[in-house]
Parts: sequence; C-alpha cells; structure tokens
Amino acid sequence: MAEHETHVVDVLVIGAGGAGLRAAIEAHERGARTAVVCKSLLGKAHTVMAEGGVAAALRNVWPEDSWQVHFRDTMRGGKLLNNWRMAQLHAQEAPDRVLELEAWGALFDRTPDGRILQRDFGGHRYARLAHVGDRTGLEMIRTLQQRAVGLGIEVYMECKIVRLLRDASGAVNGAVGFYRESGSFVVFGAKAVVLASGGVGKAWKFTSNSWESTGDGHALALWAGADLIDMECVQFHPTGMVWPPSARGILVTEGVRGDGGVLRNRDGDRFMFNYIPDFYAKETADTIEEADQWYDNKKDFRRPPELLPRDEVARSINAEVKAGRGSPHGGVFLDIASRRSPEYIKRRLPSMYHQFKELADVDITAEPMEVGPTCHYIMGGVRVEADTEATTVPGLYAAGEVAGGMHGANRLGGNSLSDLLVFGRRAGLAAAEHALGTGEVALDLAQADEVIAEALAPFGRERGENPYAVHHDLQETMQDLVGIIRTESELLEADEKLDELEQRAGVVSVEGHRQFNPGWHLALDLQSMLAVARCTTRAATARKESRGGHTRDDYPNPDPELAKLNMVTRLDPSGAVTVAPEPLPEMPEELKALFDEEH
Ligand code: FUM
Repeated sequence: MAEHETHVVDVLVIGAGGAGLRAAIEAHERGARTAVVCKSLLGKAHTVMAEGGVAAALRNVWPEDSWQVHFRDTMRGGKLLNNWRMAQLHAQEAPDRVLELEAWGALFDRTPDGRILQRDFGGHRYARLAHVGDRTGLEMIRTLQQRAVGLGIEVYMECKIVRLLRDASGAVNGAVGFYRESGSFVVFGAKAVVLASGGVGKAWKFTSNSWESTGDGHALALWAGADLIDMECVQFHPTGMVWPPSARGILVTEGVRGDGGVLRNRDGDRFMFNYIPDFYAKETADTIEEADQWYDNKKDFRRPPELLPRDEVARSINAEVKAGRGSPHGGVFLDIASRRSPEYIKRRLPSMYHQFKELADVDITAEPMEVGPTCHYIMGGVRVEADTEATTVPGLYAAGEVAGGMHGANRLGGNSLSDLLVFGRRAGLAAAEHALGTGEVALDLAQADEVIAEALAPFGRERGENPYAVHHDLQETMQDLVGIIRTESELLEADEKLDELEQRAGVVSVEGHRQFNPGWHLALDLQSMLAVARCTTRAATARKESRGGHTRDDYPNPDPELAKLNMVTRLDPSGAVTVAPEPLPEMPEELKALFDEEH
C-alpha cells in the first residue's frame, strides 16, 4: 500500500475561492465536519480577479432595480442559454448574500448616506455592483477566509486533488491528492464532496487566470462520471493587458468602463458605435452625444456601447484589430485619462493605476491603456440541480465557476461573485444534509493506490516528453483554433491536435524528486487541461451557431432551436468524450412574462 496520510470528514470542499469558502462555512454551520482543500495558499484564488464588483439588486443607487430586472439582464446576457431556475435564485438571493458578507466584515464603498455603493457594468440595466474600489474579489476572499478560519474549519493548503474516489454504488466518497511542497500523498474520505475549483483559463495562451486554473474540478467530475454542459461557452474578457508581453492577459477591470472609460482604435475613434447588435439596439446610445449625456444623467439616456455585454465588446475589439485599426501591440486603447480627474481614477481604480504603472510604465491618469481580449471564465461546467448544486453523481456537488448553467452562453460582469455566494451556500447546505444522512465512509484504498501509482508514473519514465512543451503546444492550439472566433475546419484540426497532445502527455517524464517539483505538478495538471480542452472543442464543433461567448464564423447567427439545447459532454464506457444535445429546462410563463416590452 502506497504511503499516505488519511483524513475522514463529512463534507470535503475542493477549492478555497469564494464558492469553496462559502460552501464550507455553510456545511460547518449545518453541523457537518468540514474540510477545505486548496491547490494554492489560502486566500489566493481567481475570485480576486473579479475586481469591479458583486452584482446584486440592492437598490441603493437605483430604487427601480429589482430581482426581476437582474434576472432578465442575466438571461439576456447569457443569450437565454442559462438555467432559468439558477438565474432566478441568483437574482433573488444575491442581495441577502452581499448584506451577510457586510455583516461578516466586508468593507464596501459607500453612498453619501452610508449605504453600499453600486457601480455600472456591462449588460446590467442599473448600477448594481457593490464594490471595494477595484479590489472587490480580494475583499470578499479576505472576509470569507477570516470567517472560515474563525469557525475552525479544517484547511489543507497547497494540496492538489488528483482523483475522486467512489464506492461500489458509484457514489463519490473521497479524494486522493498530494501536497505540492512535500510531494506526499493524502487520502480524504468524505460523505459528500463539493467541487469549487474554478476555471480552465490556463489551457489558453492569453488569460487572466493564474497557474491554478487548470480545469481540475471539471476533469475530476468528468472522470467520476458526471455530465458537463455547454463547455463551448468560454468568456474572453474584452480588456486584458496586451503589453508588455510578460503582463499579457492580466485583467483590466470592466470597472474602468463602468466609471467612464471609453474604447478607441488607432485613429482615436470610439469604434463601439459601429458594433451595436440589434438585440441591444433599443437600449444603447448610438451617438457619442447621447452616450456622454448618459454619464451625466443616467436616467434619461440610453447606455454607451462600451457597456454592452462582454461577448459583444470582445468580438468588436477583435474585429478592429483584424481590420488593421488596432494599437501598436495588437489591442485597442482604453481611455479614462481624458474623461476623469486623476484623483477620481486613483480613488476608484487604485489597483489599475498601480498595475499599469508597475508593469507597463503607463500612468493611466495621463495616458490610455492598451487592452485586448483575454480568456477569463468558462460559463460551461458541471451539470447541477439548480436548488441543491447536486451533480449527476451521488455525493458530488459543484458551485461557482466549475458549475455550468447559471450564466448561459455569456456571463455578465459581477455575476460571478454573487453566483459563488448564492450557490456556494446552497451547495454547502445540500452537501451537509446529504452527509448527515449517510452512513460511515468505507474507503477503497486499493483505488487510492492505483491513483497514486499513476500520479507517480512520470518519475519512472526516461527521456519522455517535457510537460512544459506539451503545455505550450496546448495553449497555442486552443488560442489559435478554439479562440474567440471558431470555424468547423479549425475545430476539427484542434481535435486532431488534441489526440497528439494526449499521446505526448501520456509519456511525459519528470526529473528530480517529489519535493516541490513544478514539472511534475504540470504533468498532472496537463491531464485536466487536456480533458477540458477536448470537451470544449467537441462541444464547440457540435454547436453549429453563434451564441454569447461561442462565435462560429461558419454559423454567424444564433439558431433559435439551439437556444433550447444544452450541449452535454460525458465519457462513454471506453473513456471517450461524447457530446449530445439535451433540452434545457423550460422557463415558467410568469418568468417569460418578464421579457415583455412593458417590463
Ligand atoms: O472586470 C472585472 O472586474 C471582472 C469582473 C468579473 O469577472 O465578474
């Protein structure tokens, strides 16, 4: 039997971003012995990259706002591919979750009369994002982490989970991982497991995601027999840094545009006026004068096109650059310097100010930023039941970015922070209830031994492939062939390349020993990234239309019939990834009525 330590808990939460911490807090408070395991140090998660705010119809700035309007904005932003029930629960519960966070110590910016201030973001009809300057995700993580630690929840840091364990009935009952620092293995027994492991951005070349985001949760769920949905729907945030190369992809918050920043091309033109889609024409200003009047008097004017949803803005920037009207380093200009005072910019966007000064030697209070799309988020994910976040495998739950359905084909900015609070709580609650009604865990240690042997295999190979070379080629493949604009021939080429990359990843070798060995860590991360890349590529091939974050050059329009279908990805008995369209749950009439003109 391979050497390892063992811990048995009621609920094991994999991931310590906002969703994981909120799930763990809830499970603990419901009386379940709960542990959180995270790949990085506690407090470091992609949640911090949601900088500009958390969306919730608090009605502090606009009393006209309501959960109904937030629901409708979210569904429209997602191009109606969202799970309507998730979008409804999200819109209804987000205000309570934000207020709860405030009660736990989060220090939001304030209105003059002392309430939580809310800012504008793309696709949200009203200023709806509660924020802490441009460090909202960070403040949320700080608050949740402080609470989780204060409650005494067990935390296992710098621990990568390699596989989930299942009992004879197929239910998930644990996980196997290793500590990155020591390389020693750990086996967790758990009556319920919550996946809250975030996204997959590191499979692409230009990304706002940090090294942790390698699709581990998506892959763990897939390998355990769960369904994934709509993996073709990947979000390219319109504004990442494009220069210098070492900073390429780092997020430039949408808060810059929410606070008055505008996009210009090489010639200084505000090009977004040329890209207003019919879908948003009624509510979008079509002249600079009207757009600028909106900034002064938000009530009576239509919103500037810079505040269209992210999919629209990212595609427009891509088109400008392709047409040869981009900035010197292949992006466009984001200008707040000519529109707001230096004091305002430094107060509202302190991180952006420092980020550009330190990394690019650009003073954003005096000069425009160069920005371009960056892979930021995956809307697709593990299929869950809306009220409980239960996956299709007993004992397994998923919340936050790793779960699919909530955001449809395109996520509105700010909706991820509220998503992770709402569904993190619900997942923790349901997982605790499941665990407290389940008998003792009977761990199958032979299964764990197999996982450990497989994880150590790269040490036993000589002169095999270099994991860094395989990762590099995977990122090139996904960026070039499964990027913002897709087409059948390129997707098929990507699928073939993935065959080759999988073969190469299967024979990677690593040198040295197990103690902090990044080559070995990457060798194992590659397995998750390749699994997710395959799901995305096949689902993108199957969805023969353009919708939200999924744009097909060969099918440039949405197909109303495909709006009714999720692309469901799962493994067949031979282990191959299959894709099947399956009907979305149908929205009830009273919610459909919210889309009527008078609302
Ligand atoms: O632009 C941003 O601040 C990112 C927010 C988000 O992804 O929700």
